[in-house]
Amino acid sequence: MTNPLTSLLGIDIPVFQAPIGSVAGAELAAAVSDAGGMGAIALTWTSPAKTTALIADIKQLTTKPFQVNFVLAFEPQSLPHALEAGAPVVTFSWGMPHTQASLVRSFGAKFGVQVSTADGAKQALDLDADFLICQGVEAGGHVQATQRLWQVLPGVVAEAEAVPVVAAGGIATGTHIRHALEGGASGAMLGTRFVATTQSLAHETYKHRLISAASHEAILTVCFDRGWPYAAHRVLRTPTLEAWEAAGCPPSGQRPGEGDIVAHHGDGRPCVRYEDTPPLRGMTGDVHDLCLYAGVGCSEIKDIPSASDLVARLWREAQYAR
Ligand SMILES: Cc1cc2nc3c(=O)[nH]c(=O)nc-3n(C[C@H](O)[C@H](O)[C@H](O)COP(=O)(O)O)c2cc1C
Repeated sequence: MTNPLTSLLGIDIPVFQAPIGSVAGAELAAAVSDAGGMGAIALTWTSPAKTTALIADIKQLTTKPFQVNFVLAFEPQSLPHALEAGAPVVTFSWGMPHTQASLVRSFGAKFGVQVSTADGAKQALDLDADFLICQGVEAGGHVQATQRLWQVLPGVVAEAEAVPVVAAGGIATGTHIRHALEGGASGAMLGTRFVATTQSLAHETYKHRLISAASHEAILTVCFDRGWPYAAHRVLRTPTLEAWEAAGCPPSGQRPGEGDIVAHHGDGRPCVRYEDTPPLRGMTGDVHDLCLYAGVGCSEIKDIPSASDLVARLWREAQYAR
C-alpha cells in the first residue's frame, strides 16, 4: 500500500498506534512499527534521561520509523533529547508547536499536529505540519475534540488539501479504518485497541475490562483530573466515577474519597483516587477503580493479540471490508 502518508513517513501500512501515555513502552511501539505500521511513545511526562534510553531501546528493536508525542498543554521538556536520540517523527497534541516546529526541522525530523476542527487544521498548516491527526470526540484518553470524527473529518481533509490526514477516535476495527480512508483520511490512529495487546504495559485487569466493555460505558468526564486539571477525558465507568456523579460531580477538594490510596505502583508509589494514571503492569490494589481510559470503539475489542498480529489483522480487514 502506498499513499502520500506512507510515502512521507516510510511506512508500509497506514495504521498508527496512538500515543497512549505510560501504557506504551518501547516494546509496543517497536512491534507496531516493525509490523509495518507506526508505533508511538508519549514523552510529555518522561524525563530527558528516560527519553534517551527509551528511544535507544526502540532503535534496538526496530529499524522502522516511529513517532514520539508531546501534549503541548505541558512544557515539552524532553523534546530536544528525543530529537538528539534520533526520533524521526514527532506528533503534538493539545496545542500548536509555534516554538517547537523549527527545532524539529533542524533535526530533519517530520511532525504531525493533532487537530479537532478545520480552523485547527489551518493553524497547523500555517506551521507547515507534514501531516495532521484529526481526533473525534469518540476517542479514549484525553479528548481535545468536541465533535464526532465523521462530522469533523471532511472539513479537516478539505482544509488539508494535499497534506495527509490521520483519523483518530473510536476506531477499533479494519472496517472502521476502511471508512476513515473512504472519508478522505490517508491513515487511521488507534489508541484503546492497542491497550489490549500483549506488549502493552496496561494491567491485565484493565485489558480484560476493555474486552467486556460496551460503548455506552466509555463516557466523557473531567473526573480523573489529578495531574491534568480541567481536561476532558473518556474513561469506563468505575466505582470512583459513579460515587463522584452520585455526589453531584463536586469540584476538587470536595469529592468523595479524595486522597484515598486506591492502589500502588510496582515500586511502591501510591496511586491516589482521581489520579490520571491508568492501571499499569505491576500495580497492586483496587486497580479496577483507577482511571480506565477507553474510546467508544471498546465494544469491538474481543481479545488481547500481539501488536504485530493486530496490525496485520486490521489491515487485512480494512482491505476486504465492504
Ligand atoms: C490510555 C490512553 C492514553 C493516552 N495518552 C495520550 C497522550 O499521552 N498523548 C496524546 O496525544 N493522546 C493520548 N491519548 C489519546 C490518543 O492519542 C488518541 O487520540 C485516542 O486513543 C484515539 O481514540 P481511541 O482510543 O478510541 O482509538 C491516550 C489515549 C489512551 C486510550
